[in-house]
Amino acid sequence: MLLDDLDTSWPFPLWLAHRGAGKLAPENTLAAFKLGAAHGYRAFECDVKLSADHVPFLLHDDTLQRTTAGQGVAGELPWGQLSLLDAGSWHGRSHAGEPLPSLAAIARYVQGNGFALNIEIKPTTGTERETGLAVGKACADLWAGSSAPLLFSSFRPEALQGARETAPLVPRALLLDTLWDNWKTVARALECVAIVTNHTLMTADLRAELRANKWRALCYTVNEVIDVERLLGLGIDGIITDAVDRFSPVTSGDVN
Ligand code: G3P
Ligand code: MG
Repeated sequence: MLLDDLDTSWPFPLWLAHRGAGKLAPENTLAAFKLGAAHGYRAFECDVKLSADHVPFLLHDDTLQRTTAGQGVAGELPWGQLSLLDAGSWHGRSHAGEPLPSLAAIARYVQGNGFALNIEIKPTTGTERETGLAVGKACADLWAGSSAPLLFSSFRPEALQGARETAPLVPRALLLDTLWDNWKTVARALECVAIVTNHTLMTADLRAELRANKWRALCYTVNEVIDVERLLGLGIDGIITDAVDRFSPVTSGDVN
């Protein structure tokens, strides 16, 4: 899916599983993606950063200790060491030994299944531009010839700018946890096709403003029925959720 095609079609389904399958499996692992898929999810959000030797891989935090058996800043270790870490035992015994996935491994999985992927570029602090450049380059290679939908998002404009330089045809979305000054100017300058906000920020006025600017509107992390109903009422384009066992894409109006 190229930027030019997005005016008329939006290739993402309404429902995206957050970090693979939210909290039901170790986040940002292949096991999480498989669990999300088992619940009917066909689109996934995940967090991607760089190893010290510039291999893109999945991890949310700057540091390893919350979700792996390792310690310290993940981006200071080479992929050879990161790939040996246990990223599953923290969640439960049944996931002991689950590895951190490289982006290449996840690309093979989603493309093999025709799933859509929203890569949140999540740079180790201070590496925003180089992470965007490297993730863009990796994806331009990994998704070459694939029709599986791909979307970049980031809270960090420098990361999106880097990805734009190395993968200009992959659509981009600005992530917003607050409506900071000049976000619209920045999103326009980056030629974003979508805005992804904390769901508490989404109002009828903001939804209308996004529509007027031809930006698709997505929200994270939406886990309660009352919030889903409110967002559906606003005509939201995408819902990123942890609650893959509560919301079924098959029966929850996944029609856009
Ligand atoms: O991409 C949406 C959401 O994942 C952003 O927040 O902290 O869960 O990565 P976080
Ligand atoms: Mg994320």
